[in-house]
Amino acid sequence: MTSTLITHIGQLVTNDPSHDGSKLGLIKEAALLIEDGVIAWAGPDSQAPTHHIKKRIDAQGMCVLPGYVDSHTHLIFAGDRSNEFRARMLGESYTAGGIASTVEKTRKASDQLLLSHAQFLLAEANAGGTTTVEIKSGYGLNVQDERRCLEIAGSITQETTFLGAHVVPVEYKDSPKDYVDLVCGPMLEAIKPYAKWIDVFCDKGAFDADDARRILKAGIAQGLLPRIHANQLEQGQGVQLGVELDAASVDHASHLSEADIEALSTSKTVVTLLPGAEFSTRSVYPDVRALLEASITVALASDCNPGSSYTTNMAFIIALAVRDMHFSPEQAIWSATMGGAKALRRDDIGHLVEGARADFQILNAPSYIHLAYRPGVNLVEQVWQHGQQII
Ligand code: NIG
Ligand code: FE
Repeated sequence: MTSTLITHIGQLVTNDPSHDGSKLGLIKEAALLIEDGVIAWAGPDSQAPTHHIKKRIDAQGMCVLPGYVDSHTHLIFAGDRSNEFRARMLGESYTAGGIASTVEKTRKASDQLLLSHAQFLLAEANAGGTTTVEIKSGYGLNVQDERRCLEIAGSITQETTFLGAHVVPVEYKDSPKDYVDLVCGPMLEAIKPYAKWIDVFCDKGAFDADDARRILKAGIAQGLLPRIHANQLEQGQGVQLGVELDAASVDHASHLSEADIEALSTSKTVVTLLPGAEFSTRSVYPDVRALLEASITVALASDCNPGSSYTTNMAFIIALAVRDMHFSPEQAIWSATMGGAKALRRDDIGHLVEGARADFQILNAPSYIHLAYRPGVNLVEQVWQHGQQII
């Protein structure tokens, strides 16, 4: 058995309310014991176990918190769209139409290029404190390219999502219903072994709620689990469709009606907010307060993709959420860790409790508040995944 004891932690965020009654489950002057890749014990330094410790690490008063669970990324693609970003910053608005240019480049890219690029982005995410990523397809948009994108995603994470219904590709411009048939039939059949989740971009310029329902139900019938991109660009039926189908998460949710909030409040569906997209499309940030008042579970994720949010950095996302969306620092940290785990319906990650995966980060800061208080500064000192130091 390998056992490592991290001592002299100035502030430990466990997300286990049993320690202090708060959502973050804070412990001051704490220690953390890791055995065989999982958390074996968390508590005050003064009560730390002393027997059979193979390795000791002195955290020198720094803050330790769970690794981020980034439950929404699009890491498999080729090329970038910096010119599109530039045009937006000069006044153009974001449309779903830009996705086509990434599709063209992705189809032409070799497997090796797509994999090495995704690994590069994953390394960037890990260096920023992320220990779990979900990855969507959605830049292949034909049977062969969706399949290989998901196969590549599956070599990186178990949280793979089929997003064949990202937009209608150009070759189906005049027969969009035929594309929906392709997604629900041969494409779904081909990607089934490689995807855990099914997603649809249900919004202006993408798919309407009727098509989205058909696609998600086809996926569910094949054993995939639903999640949905909804209400990013305007209000619509997407969020309520997500609730109707017991989606693990509705993502973006930037334009919510009272009926959406009402539906969410009686469901298990998590709302995943993606402020990187509002930042990068110069859109109005959603306000989290109505969601929290209705006791809705909220996650934060990066939405890393070349069009609407080209960042892997979860500390940046936390800073935006606190500064511009009325998250408290506590809620933002919880949403980026435990919230992400809930959006993936996982209970083995996102918190530092006995038996959970030992996925955590040591910050070069005395408190988690510094993540929003010191924006743009890399505070990550170490990152551990499954009990191994990776950064
Ligand atoms: O989540 N909204 C849909 N899909 C992506 C953006 C895709 C793109 O612009 O390439 C998103 O923001
Ligand atoms: Fe997305």
